[in-house]
Amino acid sequence: MTRSTLEAETILKGAAPLTHQKAREIQPFGHLVRMPIALSEQTCKESVENLNQLLADTMTLRDLYKKHHWQIAGPTFYQLHLLFDKHYDEQNDLVDKIAERIQLLGGVSVAMAPDVAETTRIPRAPKGREEAPVQISRLLHAHEIVLKEARTMARRAADGGDDGTNDLLVSDVIRRSELQVGFVAEHVVDVPLTTTV
Ligand SMILES: [Fe+2]
Repeated sequence: MTRSTLEAETILKGAAPLTHQKAREIQPFGHLVRMPIALSEQTCKESVENLNQLLADTMTLRDLYKKHHWQIAGPTFYQLHLLFDKHYDEQNDLVDKIAERIQLLGGVSVAMAPDVAETTRIPRAPKGREEAPVQISRLLHAHEIVLKEARTMARRAADGGDDGTNDLLVSDVIRRSELQVGFVAEHVVDVPLTTTV
């Protein structure tokens, strides 16, 4: 091996990616760091716990929309296929907002599917396909779980002076969820196909 080849090999070691690195976590789940946002530790702790519950439920609701977007069948296939995907995108946006608020409050956001499955209050959906009215009932039930807890959490956040969390819950989560319920629920109104006058 020539001298210049040896030198090149030594230099290249400095540019090679160091994969499979391991170290202790920098912040364990469930433990808060103090952020300079003029909120008490107790308020931040309560908001983080509540938002993590809501995050797990919002991620589950989001994924339920994508499951139903893929698996929808029947005469309303196309409109529901599009509507479910639109709501998926909107829920995905909420997931990001909730998770980033948790980090901002000094907490650690729940993130991975097994942890979400362990935490969510929304009943597990089957792996197989379901009829459109059943898909819709499942979505409406999930929305109601989210709306109920979000309203309670919003009041708690306001009581603790956490107006930012209250605003996120009311202006984003609750308003968006109510609107989506309106659009989805209209599909299961039992309107007769023909009307006699
Ligand atoms: Fe798609």
